[in-house]
Amino acid sequence: MDLSVKLPGLNLKNPIMPASGCFSFGKEYSQFYDLSLLGAVVIKAATLNERLGNPTPRVAETYSGMLNAIGLQNPGVETIIDQELPYLKDYDVPVIANVAGSTVEEYEQVAKAFRRTDAISAIELNISCPNVKEGGLQFGTNADVAAEVTRKVKQVSQVPVYVKLTPNVTNVVEIAQAVEQAGADGLTMINSLTGMQIDLQNRRPLLANKVGGLTGPAIKPVAIRMVYQVYQAVKIPIIGVGGIMTVEDVLEFLLAGASAVQVGTANFQNPMICPELIEQLPACLAKYGFTSVEEAIGKGHPSE
Ligand SMILES: Cc1cc2nc3c(=O)[nH]c(=O)nc-3n(C[C@H](O)[C@H](O)[C@H](O)COP(=O)(O)O)c2cc1C
Repeated sequence: MDLSVKLPGLNLKNPIMPASGCFSFGKEYSQFYDLSLLGAVVIKAATLNERLGNPTPRVAETYSGMLNAIGLQNPGVETIIDQELPYLKDYDVPVIANVAGSTVEEYEQVAKAFRRTDAISAIELNISCPNVKEGGLQFGTNADVAAEVTRKVKQVSQVPVYVKLTPNVTNVVEIAQAVEQAGADGLTMINSLTGMQIDLQNRRPLLANKVGGLTGPAIKPVAIRMVYQVYQAVKIPIIGVGGIMTVEDVLEFLLAGASAVQVGTANFQNPMICPELIEQLPACLAKYGFTSVEEAIGKGHPSE
């Protein structure tokens, strides 16, 4: 069974990769399995300077997923390049660097910094962060701002740029088309949905940040809907993410139009989830009548 997928900058052995923020820089998971088994590794968001993240509590369980407000904790791009990426070079796996910032200039600077390493194969722009200059508006919720940050990063990046879309918008197709026009090589979708939980004893929001990002099985139908809609509206490839727990979920994303998938929250429940999904994928594809991954992409659209 051919599990390989070719995407801009990425020759994937298989379409399964851990999602940013749910795998750190891979070291912890390498105690469980050989990271070379993975299609790719997506590392935790990199910002220009070190960030300590939000105060605790910053995660909470929900019936069908979790809420988090980590606050982009990371050691800063230079430390990531010097201390984290060399470790991943020992593995035969492409690395995608997730890039975040508070201003367009910060995104540009982080993307520029990654030029001095050949350890990454692509950049994933996390445009769910607030744009400080625009007064806290998320980059990803405004088509013009999303396009601007994409264009600027494309100008300085030596590797293909995937833009990770936020679902917290009215019209995701409009944002997807704007970043495609601005030169994005691909899309990753979706990031977390804004959510909240109130602690009954203390009569206040459970997370110190009050609001957090909802992830896990609860968001899968939203992600599938958005991938499906965007697949019909753009030509660039889509990496699907949101609530994947089983191999059937992986196939569902492929049918909706994703060329590859990321697995986030499920890693916290089962650190072996990614290699298990890779192992189970051939039988699942065969069961539903496919002889390769490529064959299944977009086949959930009745007109295809
Ligand atoms: C604890 C945690 C940290 C995350 N950190 C990041 C991050 O740094 N950058 C990013 O683009 N997405 C981040 N995400 C979002 C995930 O990459 C993914 O888009 C989201 O969790 C949906 O997938 P899932 O339902 O499989 O978890 C984070 C998610 C979680 C749960």
